[in-house]
Amino acid sequence: MCGIVGYLGPLKAAPVLLNELKCLEYRGYDSAGVAVIENGRLSVMKAAGKLSNLEALLADKKPSANVGIGHTRWATHGIPNDQNAHPHTDSTGTIAVVHNGIIENYEELREELKGLGYAFNSDTDTEVVAHLVSHEYKVDKDLLKAITRSVKRLVGIFALGVVSQEHPDRIYAINHHYSLSVGLGNDENFLASDSMAVRQYTNRVIKLEQSEIAEITAAKVRLFTFDGVEVKRSPIALDTSPYVIDKCGYKHFLLKEIHEQPLVLRQTLSKYLRHPNHPIDLTIDHLTPAGSQSANYGVHLTDEEIKGLTRINIFACGTAYHASMVGKLLIEELVGIPVDVDIASEIRGRRLLCNESTLAIAVSQSGETADTLAALTEAKKKGAYTLGITNRADSHLAQLTQNLIVTECGIEVSVAATKTYLAQLACFYLLAIYLGERRGTLTPERAKELKIKLNLVPAMIEQILARDEVIRETSVKYAEAQDVVFIGRGLNFPTALEGALKLKELSYIHASGYAAGELKHGPIAVLDQNVPVITVLVPGLVYEKTLSNAQEARARKAKMIAVAVDGDEQAQRTFDSVLTIPPVDELFSPMTTVVPLQLLSYFISDYLGKDVDQPRNLAKSVTVE
Ligand code: AGP
Repeated sequence: MCGIVGYLGPLKAAPVLLNELKCLEYRGYDSAGVAVIENGRLSVMKAAGKLSNLEALLADKKPSANVGIGHTRWATHGIPNDQNAHPHTDSTGTIAVVHNGIIENYEELREELKGLGYAFNSDTDTEVVAHLVSHEYKVDKDLLKAITRSVKRLVGIFALGVVSQEHPDRIYAINHHYSLSVGLGNDENFLASDSMAVRQYTNRVIKLEQSEIAEITAAKVRLFTFDGVEVKRSPIALDTSPYVIDKCGYKHFLLKEIHEQPLVLRQTLSKYLRHPNHPIDLTIDHLTPAGSQSANYGVHLTDEEIKGLTRINIFACGTAYHASMVGKLLIEELVGIPVDVDIASEIRGRRLLCNESTLAIAVSQSGETADTLAALTEAKKKGAYTLGITNRADSHLAQLTQNLIVTECGIEVSVAATKTYLAQLACFYLLAIYLGERRGTLTPERAKELKIKLNLVPAMIEQILARDEVIRETSVKYAEAQDVVFIGRGLNFPTALEGALKLKELSYIHASGYAAGELKHGPIAVLDQNVPVITVLVPGLVYEKTLSNAQEARARKAKMIAVAVDGDEQAQRTFDSVLTIPPVDELFSPMTTVVPLQLLSYFISDYLGKDVDQPRNLAKSVTVE
């Protein structure tokens, strides 16, 4: 979603801001802009559409300023156009503001400011902040105090960047339940809502905590609470990672990330699973990156606390929700604790039955998903133990939880999640075995067998990836479909949901995932010869029943596609096309069955000429509720 950047120092600000914004592109946006202060004058340049439009504008105007803020906007209030793009300025054109999040009381403030004679030029909630700061600035000509008074009047969660023509040596950054980092250089400083954006310049950052204001000059960073009290904080070192933001020869980031999955799994598994004969160790304090503040790395529950758990609640959205659905089945199967998994946005306004013997798990690739953070906060208030599973050790989620499992994926650039899904699944396998060992629900022999099988999965995925040409040829046969139905049972019902989500996101084809047994209870009505039905079919407890459900679809003349294991002759006879995977134990199959479905969606999207890495309307990090 929206991204904030800033720079002040000896370099020209515009190219730095642009470089920073490029790192945030993957998060999703529909317009971009910068505000710089040049020769004592504030100048704003912004453009709807891709960053290349802003780049062209900057190439034309050639600002040589050394200070500026920038923004990528994902429209919430007002359509994506030049006018609504950030930065927004006050009526005097001397104060500029960029903003992530939502100002919930903006209408009330807008009316008040209009009453005071301020004229508005956009439909955004952000513009009220520019006028409010301007109004407060008139009181005492103290910008920090004006900002402090203003932000205290704002309701909602937000991050802001503010520059003023009258103070060209500084940028103000404000964080209220959001995320902002100041990157520290030598006589230069950087600002970014995602620390990834400053990593190209420095790996030393100060993360703003909740309700804090940073006063940033080229030489110094001072932090203040909303009550005006100065706070001191040491910088942290950003994590180093073997992954780079580069397509490395692949046509798209998505394809590269799908192909990185064996590596990602090996990294995540090897971090916690030393040897099949040894119990899984989720504490791993020693792996905390130097200088990091993440004292909560790993799972730190005592044996007594683990044995005392009566319930687990998992909160997540989208792909992370699908991984969590698999997690629920694994934990219930291997540990015997009842697990509820909820779409995080559904927790609002509901009576959440968590207590001191509940473990609340929030799963989020970005660690910034507002719905997931809100659900976790609610569970925390009820006294639950908290565990975060995220790909971003520097995220808001990582700060919120007492226990933290960090997936070893490196940055996932493509908006559609693939490698982080696999890594989240791996974490649930590890967690289930870990809890099973600690609670004694798994014998050492069974635990060892599970660990050995888990370690075999990366090689199986490599075999599937080697078949990508066959998957491509099959996929494009179905690329013209208007509607596609995915079905699966048990552990592969979430796979069907994830397959459908990937196809929707990447190709814009309408797709739905169903529990295979549910097809006959309604969805079967949509089937005819124009609707491909994709069945996830793996030998095991639900194989025969899933096959029967597929037959019901076949009888309605649907085009039949299966993900099935090598040598499954029944599948070859029943389906028009079969995407094969190596034979796999049903328990571990969600980690392999999803891979052909990711590739299928990728190839269809590419064939249709869609924007594979940045599908329309989507954002990588969904920071509004
Ligand atoms: C996945 O392809 C999607 N882009 C989306 O569903 C995503 O999984 C969801 O928004 C949750 O994001 P998070 O994992 O960062 O919390």
